[in-house]
Amino acid sequence: MAGLRAAIETSKYAEVALISKVHPLRSHSGAAQGGINAPLGNHPDGKDDTWEKHAFDTVKGSDFLADQDAVEIFTKEASLRIYEMEHWGVPFSRTEDGKIAQRPFGGAAFPRTCYAADKTGHTILHTLYEQVVKRRIKVYEEWQVTSLAVEGGICYGVVAMSRITGELSAFCSDVVLFATGGAGRTYSKSTNAIINTGSGMAIAYRAGVPLKDMEFIQFHPTSLVGTNLLMTEGCRGEGGYLVNAKGERFMKNYSPKYMELAPRDIVSRSIQTEINEGRGFENEYVHLDLRHLGRKKIMERLPGIRDICIHFIGIDPIESPIPIQPGQHYTMGGISCNERCETEVKGFYAAGEAACVSVHGANRLGGNSLLETVVFGKIAGAHAAKHAEGKEKDSRGKKVAEDVLRKEEERINNLITKSGKERPGDIRQELKKTMDEKAGIFREKKPMEEGLSKIKELKERYKDATLSYRGKKCNLDLARALELECKLDIAEVVTTGAINRQESRGSHCRLDFKDRDDTHWLKHTIARHSPQGPIISYEPVRITTFKPEARKY
Ligand code: FUM
Repeated sequence: MAGLRAAIETSKYAEVALISKVHPLRSHSGAAQGGINAPLGNHPDGKDDTWEKHAFDTVKGSDFLADQDAVEIFTKEASLRIYEMEHWGVPFSRTEDGKIAQRPFGGAAFPRTCYAADKTGHTILHTLYEQVVKRRIKVYEEWQVTSLAVEGGICYGVVAMSRITGELSAFCSDVVLFATGGAGRTYSKSTNAIINTGSGMAIAYRAGVPLKDMEFIQFHPTSLVGTNLLMTEGCRGEGGYLVNAKGERFMKNYSPKYMELAPRDIVSRSIQTEINEGRGFENEYVHLDLRHLGRKKIMERLPGIRDICIHFIGIDPIESPIPIQPGQHYTMGGISCNERCETEVKGFYAAGEAACVSVHGANRLGGNSLLETVVFGKIAGAHAAKHAEGKEKDSRGKKVAEDVLRKEEERINNLITKSGKERPGDIRQELKKTMDEKAGIFREKKPMEEGLSKIKELKERYKDATLSYRGKKCNLDLARALELECKLDIAEVVTTGAINRQESRGSHCRLDFKDRDDTHWLKHTIARHSPQGPIISYEPVRITTFKPEARKY
């Protein structure tokens, strides 16, 4: 979605094209359900809301790791972007007097989350795509980017492979912007689409662009048992309860004031604690109970949730509680960039979940993700256009891109033709299991070190991978093997950063370092690629207004 918004902005000033490995309407942003935050003040309990309060909630939610100057831009822009999308046609749900409706979401002092029933991402995605079509922006669908063309700290384009024909091409351009989403599918229990492989992050990382704060992985509290499909936070925003096997609303023991609407990191840990301590069902899940909301409210506000439950698990939430467990949901870290979405490499930008600006710090608030796509999508698009403006054609660009194209042809041809002992599918399964078990909600030195050595072993085994299909056309075996290589890099960065960070902050919960430690760890992790693994350094957090304080809910 950030890519669509960026392209719309750039198209005002420059020629622009979109490259996407799937049709843009299959972007994972379409799976975002519950809403998008902005301090509109339309809810009777939200009249005193302001961008400053939204900023404070975001910074507190981030466990004070967010860069506060970026959060200020983010929250000041929020309302403008919502009205823009309303005017473009997003069918937001409405209050009785016709204003955009807002619901409570976790960690927010006011009901601030604008929504379109429980299909908010879907409706925004479609609306932005309509705007792209209207502007006749060229879209290269089903083209998978495999490499950036970078030389001397300047980006000259990308190399991409048509998933349909298998053809590799160099795309030369003055500016490249990645809005390639998160890395959720490095885990197996994930709300993410299969396409969320962290490939954009890994491609940037290999091209010399650092990744930031990758150890911070969000687990959404409520994913459906079995498939881990998202059960929106909107369920709890509308008044749903979390109940353990003893019939208790257990959140009273963890966050008596906010209850089910504490921030996600806290609710996920609470659910997992109930399960680990034997108060869950079948050692696996607790209940999300919507029955008291009644048929009318469920049909009106949560129709998609009801459909998913009926189709995927055969229960109707109007009549039965929903079995849920935490599932990986979001990558707070990403391609390191500043508040203009510029990276260290000239002409290379990043936005959305692929990027780390950083506005989410150690834990993102629900409803801030869709907002990030439209706020920083627009900003990135504008700055990218400015970068391209009046630029003399750099004669080196074509040669650099063609050199990378040749290297990629060789690499991919080698992957298709070589015979080895390893099946990529096996490596993928083992990687996801490792991440679930060793770098999950609760973390500790020894298991994480075991996880890291397993990842390194898998990276070695990948060198001996053999594809089961060697054709060029529609070779998803190849496409997914390329993604797997990216996942291995990302998993290594996540785990290395997590082992190093000897504190608990936001989503990063260390059983062996239980407290937040601002003296030593109020800093961003920066990971740079090397053939031996990530080289880690740290950068200060930009604090402007809100002094770090104990984070209580
Ligand atoms: O729960 C949800 O609807 C997800 C929203 C988000 O991740 O922002």
